[in-house]
Amino acid sequence: MNKKALITGITGQDGSYLAEYLLDLGYEVHGLVRRVALEDPQRRFTRISHLLEKITLHPASLESYPSIFHIFSQHNFDECYHLAAQSFVAESFADGFSTMNTNINGTHYILAAIRELRPECRFYFAGTSEMFGKVKEIPQRETTPFHPRSPYGISKVAGFDLTRNYREAYNMFCCSGLLFNHEGPRRGFEFVTRKITSTVARIKFGLASELRLGNLEAKRDWGHAADYVRAMHAMLQQPEPEDFVVATGETHSVREFCELAFAQVDLNYRDYVVIDGKHYRPAEVDMLVGDSTKAREILNWQPQYTFDELVKEMVENDLELTALQPRKLAASEI
Ligand code: GDD
Repeated sequence: MNKKALITGITGQDGSYLAEYLLDLGYEVHGLVRRVALEDPQRRFTRISHLLEKITLHPASLESYPSIFHIFSQHNFDECYHLAAQSFVAESFADGFSTMNTNINGTHYILAAIRELRPECRFYFAGTSEMFGKVKEIPQRETTPFHPRSPYGISKVAGFDLTRNYREAYNMFCCSGLLFNHEGPRRGFEFVTRKITSTVARIKFGLASELRLGNLEAKRDWGHAADYVRAMHAMLQQPEPEDFVVATGETHSVREFCELAFAQVDLNYRDYVVIDGKHYRPAEVDMLVGDSTKAREILNWQPQYTFDELVKEMVENDLELTALQPRKLAASEI
């Protein structure tokens, strides 16, 4: 019989790639979505519009235990991938309270519902390299101590601890992926990579003249989301639940990302990037680079995209999207 999986956050970048991957493997795929999303499918389901015929969506809220309990009472899921979260670090500084509520309580509600109704359902928690924050060693691995630098990072450490506690206390198959930054053409526009590639495309088409950014020296280990969802699935197929770092092992600065993205369209980033203090964070994570030896050895996982290929794909995608947008007519054309 086909395995049945529930994905929270199915409308997001990772959720959409994971849904595609699981469908290809023959899974019956279900997604938890906000009711407002169901009421506005054109805007909210852009990443999964091509999958809507093949998946089942359930309205629920991460703020409501009864709504989550109800879904688990109706379906015998074999696997649950908990990806939904307020995942934008800058927003977590603006509203730490709602980030904490959604990310911590939402995770706890799902774990509690699984324990109550379907304890054999395997659970994946979307942990993050943000938990390493002010890093204690380079590169970061599964044993590196956490030092989160934002309400978002703190909420994810709490989710990680909850996940481990359900594993230890109730003998449930619960594990966390410690995923380093992962991007791609479906990335939200608020994250720096997509902000850069979408603005590069707008500049190239004459629709923008500058790109306002904060800290250009921050370094990240950037991979491709399509590669990373394979690791999530592999974690839930192991004989024992364990936590894994998923990373490329390479680190690049925001400045380098800019340089490469602008060079892709034969422009020099120095002519367009403007530093704007409002994009600096009260506490920054300066440098992330992961050691994914454990995932490579035990999960047999490795990334397929290089950094250059990632940037290239994102820029090309944004050039295509921008070309489709109505543009302002140049004076000579009027
Ligand atoms: N978003 C953004 N916008 N970031 C900027 C900007 C800007 O204008 N200018 C500089 N940056 C810097 C940020 O200060 C940060 O150091 C870096 O670019 C990356 O920022 P984001 O793309 O917003 O990602 P993030 O690293 O904070 O968090 C992402 O990765 C985590 C994994 O480490 C998110 O996807 C998290 O949800 C995820 O857990």
